[in-house]
Amino acid sequence: MKKYDIRKICCIGAGYVGGPTMAVFAKYCPNITINVVDINKKRIDDWNSNNPLNFPIFEPGLDKLILSFRDKNLFFTTDLEKSISEADMVFISVNTPTKTKGVGAGKASDLKWVEASARQIAEFSKSHTIVVEKSTLPVKTAETIKNILSSSQDISSVDKKTFSVLSNPEFLSEGNAINDLQYPDRVLIGGEDESSINALSNLYLNWVPEKKILKTNIWSSELSKLTANAFLAQRISSINSISALCEVTGADIKQVSKAIGMDTRIGRKFLASGPGFGGSCFQKDILNLIYLCNYYKLDEVANYWKGVIDINNWQKERISKIIVNNLFGNVSGKKIAILGFAFKANTNDTRESPSISICQDLIEEGAHIAIYDPKVENSKIEDDFKKLNKINFEQCRVNWEICSSIQEAALESDAIVVLTEWQEFLYIDWKSLINSMRKPAWLFDTRSCIDHNKAKNVGFNVWEIGNSVSINKY
Ligand code: UDX
Ligand code: ADP
Repeated sequence: MKKYDIRKICCIGAGYVGGPTMAVFAKYCPNITINVVDINKKRIDDWNSNNPLNFPIFEPGLDKLILSFRDKNLFFTTDLEKSISEADMVFISVNTPTKTKGVGAGKASDLKWVEASARQIAEFSKSHTIVVEKSTLPVKTAETIKNILSSSQDISSVDKKTFSVLSNPEFLSEGNAINDLQYPDRVLIGGEDESSINALSNLYLNWVPEKKILKTNIWSSELSKLTANAFLAQRISSINSISALCEVTGADIKQVSKAIGMDTRIGRKFLASGPGFGGSCFQKDILNLIYLCNYYKLDEVANYWKGVIDINNWQKERISKIIVNNLFGNVSGKKIAILGFAFKANTNDTRESPSISICQDLIEEGAHIAIYDPKVENSKIEDDFKKLNKINFEQCRVNWEICSSIQEAALESDAIVVLTEWQEFLYIDWKSLINSMRKPAWLFDTRSCIDHNKAKNVGFNVWEIGNSVSINKY
């Protein structure tokens, strides 16, 4: 069996996956030079900034790693050609959002960036290159990559280019990425060429115990990633569906979650009820699964998974309606403070954040929205609103503002809606906040993360997800 010696790695895509993953590779593979490339020059400049606050991604522990290894064995560059041509192994970590038009729109992933990457690898690589799929991809994407790569193989040329394609899905969860990357539950490597699989596996062996490295065929690896995300999302939709039942029956979702989570067959993780799952993966991956099932005429299976997304959308709509109903069925002209715009705490990512659609609903109802998030940049919030097709961005611009503190958002507002479980929201001085608000003042805690007694004691009417008894009667 051949043995591939990996000295240089290129990672295409310096985003939420590429950046943190390569930082951890750099830490544990000091003898390997890693070039992270991106077509977005601003992103690369930000990664190269001397001020960690300018890094494009906020991720606990990431800044330390970047500052330790950048310009030693970790480089951020826009020089794609050089980075690919020198690399023994190329990771594809580009974005794969759901298609918005054309065949499979609204379901299939848009693979144009993956395809572009494969073409770039085909063009610039020299000799043998191991190509690793890192992005979350639909099953059988490796085949597309292989086809593109093999069509570039010039048999007549002296410098024969050869390729092996591996699937090595990333299971990191944002906000906990560095920990997940350093101590993964498992590393999955799918492929056909044993030498290439071993080359990648040897890199991981620098920090991951061998028993955690799982080698499978390429399709199992791709499908496992979709399935893992679908199962996790399903748990959230399951618990969110029960939260609605708790609110009408007098049960408390936290108590129910605890009780069922103590059953070792169920387990306690991923049972926190909230405003619905967000993030770049869950919805996209389930949509991919649905698309795949429909393609293979497995409509019952497709419908089963569609239910997970339906409940997720319903949960978001349900919360918007609850806010409006509690504010006397009318929010027109009322100011509502939104605490948290990221799709979860400890990330500045807003992709598919429930905050986006809940804000949209409230704006449509005529409310004035004042948003505060400790990490999300203003430009990102603006971009998210611009992308909404239901509201006219220019017309609605007066209906929302971005605030730089909790106090500013809450000032003269009728209600506070907690949508992200940021730690600083747990320590709010409710007394001083309520003094600056209109009365009756409302607190809607969609994450069940606030100490309600403190808020109630100073006069708030509190609504908490999955809990019918939390409201103070004004
Ligand atoms: C997810 C997977 O966890 C990860 O393995 C995969 O690689 C990418 O997709 P991520 O999207 O970063 O990671 O975040 P995750 O922690 O899974 O949360 C997803 C969403 O579910 C968030 O909106 C979060 O708030 C929500 N969630 C999570 C809940 O509502 N309740 C929970 O108990 C857990
Ligand atoms: P993910 O969460 O999958 O990491 P991101 O959107 O955060 O997704 O990052 C993907 C990155 O890939 C973006 O910064 C984007 O500019 C980059 N990218 C997309 N296509 C290419 C390409 N062909 N060459 C280089 N970089 C690319």
